[in-house]
Amino acid sequence: MKQLSTNRKRLWIACMAFAASALVAGAALADQDRYTLTAPNGVAFSDFRGYDEWQYVAVSTTGTGIKAILGNPAMIEAYKKGIPGNGEPFPDGAAIVKIEWAKAPNPVSPYPVEIPTTLRSLSFIEKDSKRFPDTSGWGYAKFLYDPATRTFKHDGNDPSFGKKVCYQCHTAVADRDYIFTNYPLR
Ligand code: HEC
Repeated sequence: MKQLSTNRKRLWIACMAFAASALVAGAALADQDRYTLTAPNGVAFSDFRGYDEWQYVAVSTTGTGIKAILGNPAMIEAYKKGIPGNGEPFPDGAAIVKIEWAKAPNPVSPYPVEIPTTLRSLSFIEKDSKRFPDTSGWGYAKFLYDPATRTFKHDGNDPSFGKKVCYQCHTAVADRDYIFTNYPLR
């Protein structure tokens, strides 16, 4: 009888451990794996893996948002060589991301200053002349963030979106290899 109750206790402990691990796994699954997403033109989130730890190029603000612009090592190296100001193009493998947040006054700051709040979107550009011959070698994708569901979704539903919308406007700076942002002194 004593033996039985010990076995029951063991079984109970095993069940609880299993339930707890299932809960943990469930919580992990609930968060979307952003790196599985791909825009209709083939520009994949995973092409930009680690983007959140890339070195910053510059920051910019609009009336309603704050943006951080970050480059991968190939992009930063090219900037340091003087590209695009020297008329040279960025090399294949260069990639740049623009992270945009909503902004609000910092409630604890003694002087007026605005800080990033909710994440809004990620805009990606990568250089690969073989994959993107129609857009001067640059592949474009934007992923919009929905804070309610904590998920990303690509912007634009057809494969020509990157060309018709993004590239179309970036041709304004064709003489700077389609990149607007400068690398300011720091
Ligand atoms: C109406 C013009 C316009 C459109 C459309 C546009 N951009 Fe830009 N983009 C800009 C300007 C201007 C900047 C620099 C100012 C800023 O936002 O900081 C910029 C900056 C960027 C940057 C930082 C590198 C750089 O060139 O300075 C990325 C990355 C970017 N855009 C991606 C995209 C993507 C992806 C799309 C399409 C979803 C897109 N852009 C559509 C005008 C545009």
